[in-house]
Parts: sequence; structure tokens; C-alpha cells
Amino acid sequence: MTKNYSFPPHFFWGASTSATQSEGRVADDGKGENIWDFASNEYNHRFYEGVTTEKTSRFYEDYQTDIGLMAELNFNSFRTSISWSRLIPNGVGPVNEQAVTFYNQVIDELIAKGIEPFINLYHFDMPLELQKIGGFENKIVVQYFKQYAETCFDLFGDRVKYWFTFNEPMIPAEAGYLHDRHYPYVVDFKRAATVLHHIALAHCEAIKSFRERNLASKIGIIMDIIPVYPRSQHPADLKAAEMADLFYTRSINEPLLLGRYPAELVGILTEYGQMPVVTNADLALIAETKVDILGINYYKPRRVKALDYEPNRSGVFSPEWFFANYEMPGRRMNTSRGIEIYPQGIYDIAKMIQAKYGNIDWFVSENGIGIQGEEQFMENGMVMDDYRIDFLKEHLIWLHKAMAEGSNCLGYHMWTFVDCWSWINAYKNRYGFYRLDLATGEKTVKKSGLWFKDVIKEHGF
Ligand code: BG6
Repeated sequence: MTKNYSFPPHFFWGASTSATQSEGRVADDGKGENIWDFASNEYNHRFYEGVTTEKTSRFYEDYQTDIGLMAELNFNSFRTSISWSRLIPNGVGPVNEQAVTFYNQVIDELIAKGIEPFINLYHFDMPLELQKIGGFENKIVVQYFKQYAETCFDLFGDRVKYWFTFNEPMIPAEAGYLHDRHYPYVVDFKRAATVLHHIALAHCEAIKSFRERNLASKIGIIMDIIPVYPRSQHPADLKAAEMADLFYTRSINEPLLLGRYPAELVGILTEYGQMPVVTNADLALIAETKVDILGINYYKPRRVKALDYEPNRSGVFSPEWFFANYEMPGRRMNTSRGIEIYPQGIYDIAKMIQAKYGNIDWFVSENGIGIQGEEQFMENGMVMDDYRIDFLKEHLIWLHKAMAEGSNCLGYHMWTFVDCWSWINAYKNRYGFYRLDLATGEKTVKKSGLWFKDVIKEHGF
């Protein structure tokens, strides 16, 4: 095969998922409830077609078959998360031995099949018992997270070579405490900022514990860096773009990757009475913490413009007081999810990492396209998802260009291996290389899965 786009022989190829979105068996074998088990039952109307965390691709019981299916596609790596409330049912206290057995088996099976496990500690799934005392709003939970991380390092650290503390640390704060999308459905900027700050501290504490153990592994975090593009080069639009970037990206990237909060952010939050409690000890911990590797989830760009009205600044403080989202005419949309498709964004992120974050080692930890009603593209039992192949190709071409220009990208993980349950959207948008038949539980490879298999085999396309 003639290749136009070659990737390094040791490039990591695979897919990502998370515990809550794939495991199922949420009340079995000693697992404690997390906020999603609770919310998907108690606030069922907030989930697409009322489908709950019970309905998954059954990784808990099918992990062996699933890992076999990954191997069939030539994956050499796979990212999932540990469910905190499966391992430590109350979030703090005794460890659930059945969970230890399960995660040991998963890790061993992956390694046996030549698939490097990338293990993330937190993918939005706060144990319910800890949410009852405030979740990450309560600083004590930072210490409980540290203990949970230590438990994971001690149990699995001999085999796991790539660890991640959080997936998209902004989301639990933003979606749970500002935008009314995730439980506990709070709308209060200062509380969101407190949660975000405590997540930053939890990340740092976990890394500190990791370093004390001298493991022959790497640790990092998975960020959703959303590249921001202004409507025009007019100073007001440029300022709007700066503000969106400050609130939604720099507010978490800079403390965790550069060791300090942006002074502009501290200034604005102080002016508006929105600054969370941040101690000197917190700042010292943030300043001394470094990651070895970065995961980047990329789905969409953010386009912004200056506000064309004077916002009413008397209600709940909002970043949207300083910019407006902008729907660029002619932009290419994924209408299922209502987001723009912009492959060049992956290149722009790579350049940003190069310029701003010391060209650190990174990998694409999520990228993919969720489509509603994929049945319409089925032929002879296979989803002919050429749109997904095009999507992957276009993103990989931009990634290839960035790597040719010196970006230290180590791998590419698609979201996701098999169609999975999702926060809010449940099974509305299908993302997998394998189709999940919700009625029978059957998993069948899509055309994109076979395409990806060849890409991995050939180290390119
Ligand atoms: C990512 C999350 O941002 O988006 C995943 O890390 C999630 O957990 C994915 O499933 C897709 O989201 P949705 O809502 O389109 O299914």
C-alpha cells in the first residue's frame, strides 16, 4: 500500500472509554453508587430516552471478549478509567476486593493481548457518599481522592505505565455547578470555581503521591483544550476570544501545566467577588507539580464574537458576560451533536502545546464523531460509516502535519471502541468502531473499524 501519511512505528493506536460509560453492573459485586447511577434514576428525564447507567456495552462481564475485539482491530493501547465507587464503595474507607480482582483481570488481559492500558482515575464519576458531603466543593474530598489514587498506584502500579488523574477537569465544575447539565445541577459561578480549584489540588496531590512511589510509569491529565477563534480581527472580537480562552481553557491549563493561575483571571474574579478560597499552600503545591504527558480530547472549536449588547451584570456571574458564541456562516456541522467539525483544530492545539507548554509529550486521548440513527447506513449488517473514516482521515492528516513540524504526539485514541452510554445523551449519538445492538447486546464491527485496523497495521494510510 502506498502511504501518504506515515506514523512512527511505536505510535499508540486505540480508543478510549470510561468506567461508567462501559462497565454496567452498577449495583453488583460490592460497587457503591456514584452520582450518575443516582442521577440517571432520580433525574431520569434529563437523559435521552431515560436510559440509565445500567444499560452499557457490559465491559464488566464482557471485558475478555471486548479486549479480543480490540486486538482484532490491532489496537496497541486502550484508555479506560477506574470507577472510584466500584473500588472504594463509599469513596473513602474499605476497598472492594471484587473490584480489585476485576481491574487486575482487565489490566492483565490487555497486557496479554499486547494492548497498553492507559488508566484514568476520574471520569466525572463522584461516589455518591462523597457527593453527599459536597463532592469536590468540600476540600476534604481532595484528601479522599489522594487516598483513592494511592490505592490505585499500589494495586496496579506495577503494570500500568500510563496514568491520568482526571478526564476533562473543567467539565465537573462547569457542567455540574454552572451550566445545569450534570448532577448536582447547581448554577453558581463561585461554587464552580471552588470545585475547579479543588480538582486542581486533587490532581496535584495524586501526582505527589505518585512521585513518592518512584514507579517506572508516567502520569498526566486529559484536557479538553477547545481552540478559540474570533469572528474577526477587530480588537473587540479578539478581546472576546481572549476572555473565552481565559475562562474555559487557561483557568485550568495554566495552573496544571504552567504552575500558576493567570493573573487576569484572578483580577476579574476578585473584582466580581467570585474568587474561591486559595491558600498560599495551595499555590505552592500547584507551582511544584509537573505532568509527564498530556492527553487532549478534541471534538470542536469555539468561535466567539464581542457582545453586541450590554449584559445584565446583576444575576449569577457568568463568563458569557464577556463574549458571545458565534455561529460562523457556512461552518461544517455534525448536526447530531450540534457541533462544528473543524479538523485543523487538532493542528492548532498541537502548535499551542509546542509554543506554550514546552512541547510536552502528548497524545490525542479522544476524537470522534457521534451520529444519531446510524442504522440508516447499514448494509448487510455492517454500518457503512464513511463519514467517520473521512472524519478520522482529516484529523489524522492535520495531526501528521503537526508531527512533521516537531510536535511530540505519541498516539491517537478514537472515542470510542464500541457505542457507549453517555452523560445526558445516553445512546443518542453513536461513536464506536463497533456497533452495539441495544436489543441483543451484539457488537459488530463498522466499516471505520476495519479501516482503522489497516491504518494501525500499515502505520498510516
Ligand atoms: C467527551 C467525554 O467530552 O465527550 C466523553 O469525555 C463523552 O465521556 C464524549 O462520552 C461524547 O459526548 P456525547 O454527549 O456526544 O455523547
